[in-house]
Amino acid sequence: MSKRKAPQESPNEGITDFLTELANYERNVNRAIHKYNAYRKAASVISRYPSKIRSGAEAKKLDGVGAKIAEKIDEFLSTGKLRKLEKIRQDDTSASINLLTRVTGIGPAAARKFVEEGIKTLEDLRKIEHKLTHHQRIGLKYFEDFEKRIPREEMLQMQEIVLKEIKKLDPNYIATVCGSFRRGADSSGDMDVLLTHPSFTSESSKQGVCQLPDKEDGTAYPHRRIDIRLIPKDQYYCGVLYFTGSDIFNKNMRTHALEMGFTINEYTIRRLGVTGVAGEALPVECEKDIFDYIQWKYREPKDRSE
Ligand code: TTP
Ligand code: MG
Repeated sequence: MSKRKAPQESPNEGITDFLTELANYERNVNRAIHKYNAYRKAASVISRYPSKIRSGAEAKKLDGVGAKIAEKIDEFLSTGKLRKLEKIRQDDTSASINLLTRVTGIGPAAARKFVEEGIKTLEDLRKIEHKLTHHQRIGLKYFEDFEKRIPREEMLQMQEIVLKEIKKLDPNYIATVCGSFRRGADSSGDMDVLLTHPSFTSESSKQGVCQLPDKEDGTAYPHRRIDIRLIPKDQYYCGVLYFTGSDIFNKNMRTHALEMGFTINEYTIRRLGVTGVAGEALPVECEKDIFDYIQWKYREPKDRSE
């Protein structure tokens, strides 16, 4: 999973940028996941709005934009900035937590803990490298590279190499490159690979790094992040669905599932009993099975942005 989202071209980029910054602040610093989701949802709907927004009231007509966000949009449109964000940016603790969460493997909880211990910069992290997990050490080492988006052309080359290596290990492996790549994105933050094998029953995940061989002109490619998850066969397609995303699409699908009396997560789909208790995992042989259970029309990965 990646931390950097693709920049979206939109006539309302100023607004979506500040909403995204507020979202990250709520997630990373306050660990307020509902506020994070609310800002993300508003940013997403506004990013797809085709014309330039002139007022908070205009934005408020969109699903996902409430009174408080509309107010912020008005402030931003009339002053060009947001007092709340200015304050957040000036706050030393918030800024440090935000920085540390940009290292892959460091989540909001770990970031806060580091900052409370006085570890606030990448330099500070390098001094305590021995205390970092393997994943965090990779994140620190390749900090700059991992913030660069990966062009689709490179993703295609990486996919070919990764799938070939996997088949070499055992031709019975089933592997899918999920994430934004599977949805057809022009660029991706990372490569999300899901792997299963008919004989696998327990889950594990491996964070790796790859670098394509130098280009013909002799210049080197950045190091890229690969997240490989090994998933039991019976849970594979729930995993593929989940890790194809987008996260907003996942949320909408789960909401619909609940309305239909099902609960879906990255491992299983289960029926909810009258008391709200989930039953046994239902059999799933492909992604479409999951759509069928909840009586939703199948959507191709490219149509799963929301
Ligand atoms: P990401 O790799 O974070 O997202 P992405 O591949 O869509 O985008 P990027 O190009 O930036 O890498 O996560 C992979 C999928 O996992 C994502 O599309 C949906 C799912 N997911 C969630 O549903 N919720 C989450 O909070 C996260 C982090 C991921
Ligand atoms: Mg990804």
